[in-house]
Amino acid sequence: MSDTVLEFNPFLPEVHSDPYPAYAQLRELDPVHKGMFPGVWILTRYADCLQILRDPRFSSDSRKSELFELFREMVGQQSPGLLEENRARSMLFVDPPDHTRLRTLVNKAFTPRVVESLRPHMQDIVDELLTAVLEAGSGTMDVVADLAYPLPIRVICEMLGVPPEDREVFRQWSSDLVVSLDPIISVELFERANRAAEAFTDYFLGLIRDRRAHPRSDLLSGLIQAEDEGRSLTEDELISTCILLLVAGHETTVNLIGNGVLSLLRHPQEMGQLRAEPSLIRTAVEELLRYDAPVQLTGRTVLEDMEIGGRPIDKGHQVVAVLGAANRDPAQFPDPDRLDLGRNDNRHLAFGSGIHFCLGAPLARAEGQVAIATLLRRVPRIELATEEELEWRETVTLRGLKSLPVRFGG
Ligand code: HEM
Repeated sequence: MSDTVLEFNPFLPEVHSDPYPAYAQLRELDPVHKGMFPGVWILTRYADCLQILRDPRFSSDSRKSELFELFREMVGQQSPGLLEENRARSMLFVDPPDHTRLRTLVNKAFTPRVVESLRPHMQDIVDELLTAVLEAGSGTMDVVADLAYPLPIRVICEMLGVPPEDREVFRQWSSDLVVSLDPIISVELFERANRAAEAFTDYFLGLIRDRRAHPRSDLLSGLIQAEDEGRSLTEDELISTCILLLVAGHETTVNLIGNGVLSLLRHPQEMGQLRAEPSLIRTAVEELLRYDAPVQLTGRTVLEDMEIGGRPIDKGHQVVAVLGAANRDPAQFPDPDRLDLGRNDNRHLAFGSGIHFCLGAPLARAEGQVAIATLLRRVPRIELATEEELEWRETVTLRGLKSLPVRFGG
């Protein structure tokens, strides 16, 4: 275990396009790796990642980290924006009791039962999207633009009560904002994320004003009612919750569908198996989540001095759980680099674990299942339509393709 031998830089183009060899090397040689920035540790073993997600000595509130202070000093003077001390943060970035209060308010809208009742509607959306592609008659499609993106954005907009036709308005904001999830971000990108957060805030303020005057049966109206009654939500919290649900509701699922279809294209035999046995779709989606996770990492701040894997880690340091690496740990998954659509005992970390376990997991799973199963059913033969290297979006926290061009075989 030497700090000098290995350097992990997820932004290097070859690591960005395929991080798994670098993960394997880290997991084997330096599983608690000292990152490029002081006070940041990179964890790649399943057991270590699971621990930091489940142990309350690791906080989701980055304001408690040394790096936060450092970054604030660097960029925060004129326009702290997202780094403002008093800014209301979404449930993703707070600990109990605030976390419990905020999560409880929206939890019931995302239970498996509610999500199952939405499945026929998801099926209609997917059928409509694929009919449009097939009727266009070009024999090609971009899986990202034509299916993976429009499905989750429509579903989350409808649940929340955001007019789906506004999606072009917030597409850029959303994409600018998610970059702020990366463990390291340039000042320029940070300022862009700040502007996106402001634009989103103004957008939701307008929508809230409208919905206050004309309540409907959507999630936004329900949350406004909770805020109006002073029950347990301030207006700032209401806005940060709406932004989180909207952004988390589609920026991740688009990658489940995009990365999932790519994995199948690269494994024609497994794709054939799924075509022959459509009932495999549930385990198949879990395996696609494990194999190429849409969210590759998440961070926590250490609340007390401790040791992980024999390394002393100080209070205020940040630990990064590389979920994509944990999901390929041979200590947890036999033959981890093999795509096995019928894999049993697949306790992958693609949705995290512990109290922040993805609230939208049932929704994302259903969307992924409907989209991929229907694509295979309605398009009997599919292959990649480009010889060129595929382009990945810039963020390293989220892993997703910019586009996935395919053509339909004869
Ligand atoms: C395949 C798609 C998705 C993946 C891979 C994914 C992944 C994750 C992960 C890893 C976390 C935990 C982060 C952490 O512990 O720091 C998380 C949290 C969360 N996700 Fe998802 N997500 C997906 C889809 C969705 C959808 C559709 C929604 C819809 C609303 C959603 C809403 C949330 C929320 C609100 C949280 C915060 C939960 C909390 O802090 O208690 N996600 N997600």
